[in-house]
Amino acid sequence: MRIALDGPSGAGKSTVAKAVAKRLGIVYVDTGALYRSIGLYVQRKGVSKDDKEKVIAMLDEIKLDLKFNDGTQVVLLNGEDVGGFIRTGEISMYASAVSAIPEVRAFLLETQRKIARENSVIMDGRDIGTVIIPDAEVKIFLVASAEARAERRYKELIEKGESCTYEGVLADIKERDNNDSTRAVAPAVPAEDAIFLDNSNLNQEQTIDKVIEIIENTVKKKKPKKKRRFYRAVKFLLGKIVGFFLGVRVKNKNKEIFDKPFILCANHTSLLDAIVIVIAMKNQIRYMGKKEIFKIPLLNLFIKAMGAFPVDRKKGDVAAIKKTLEILKGGECVGIFPQGTRHPYENPRDTEVKDGIGMMASRAGVGIVPVYIKNKSGKVKWFHKNTVIIGDYISPEEIAFPELSGREKYKAISNYAFDKICSIGESWEDKK
Ligand code: DC
Repeated sequence: MRIALDGPSGAGKSTVAKAVAKRLGIVYVDTGALYRSIGLYVQRKGVSKDDKEKVIAMLDEIKLDLKFNDGTQVVLLNGEDVGGFIRTGEISMYASAVSAIPEVRAFLLETQRKIARENSVIMDGRDIGTVIIPDAEVKIFLVASAEARAERRYKELIEKGESCTYEGVLADIKERDNNDSTRAVAPAVPAEDAIFLDNSNLNQEQTIDKVIEIIENTVKKKKPKKKRRFYRAVKFLLGKIVGFFLGVRVKNKNKEIFDKPFILCANHTSLLDAIVIVIAMKNQIRYMGKKEIFKIPLLNLFIKAMGAFPVDRKKGDVAAIKKTLEILKGGECVGIFPQGTRHPYENPRDTEVKDGIGMMASRAGVGIVPVYIKNKSGKVKWFHKNTVIIGDYISPEEIAFPELSGREKYKAISNYAFDKICSIGESWEDKK
């Protein structure tokens, strides 16, 4: 899930974005802080903000990093946390001036795109929906009249004990609006498909509620309403006939997850695992299956009709990852066996876990449902009692791991989910 929140200064984007990020368990990225940090560097060096040549030449001396501590963004300028220095009126003007320089924007492009690639985010800025994430799932352009914004800002400054006049604040806002929206590169204008929200007459709470409503409506609208008659018919027959011979028992029929997209992860004991899970789960589970089984005639047609899709396990299969993200973002569920291959008769804790699950859950912004498949003989077998224990839903918030990034984060998510699977199995054994 990527949400682009653009709009002029002072429209309240950061307050809204923070609240939305908290509610949805996603990462809030304040891109203005990057421009502000460059502005600060230029100001500290005593260089004029309008001296483009010098500003461009200084970019080589600058290293910017964004870190997230408990979900709060920290911006590091050459290793120094500059959060306390970049929110002044003077630095706002420096930020606005340097942000109009194409080389500065190019310098910051990849930093921003990388964060959006690796996380579910709400990003606030000016060009998020037009340049940084043009394919964001939701784009909102938040505005308020210059007067309403000046009034809010003026009150804020007075409360902080700063001396200023309303007229001065209004003039600064108008100047920044003019700079930001008329510059030649990435001007602060709404993307064609952005939803416009004017909050001149709304308070903070009302604005947050409105933004959440827009996000929910947009995501709902994008969910394809697929008819799954074949799947439902097969599930019914499997449940009645095969389920009987497989002796399937389901524990913890978890109602909370019926209408959510998620990744279902289970231990892998036998080829029959997928069948017992289809029988056990109310949601349709679309399986990522090894590409070899898609070569078997008839079976190939059947599993495709059931919504399964192939993965080449020998390479980083980009198409399979894309397909998974597409399915999850469309509101459907994907089933994956994190062990990659079958491990009958083995304690799952003794096996390795693939980190792809973490990457896909993180990038799609969905939760994970851990499932443990239990059979006395060590693998699912015909004419044996096969038990499917559905674990508690792991929310995206629970696996946000904001202090980690990239592969470390994906690995942590995969391990977390797999640990839950193993724990379900162990507590089940203890109970018995
Ligand atoms: O959102 P802010 O006020 O902290 O942004 C500071 C300046 O940076 C603002 O004047 C415009 C610029 N900016 C930008 O050009 N593009 C962004 N994505 C974010 C900020």
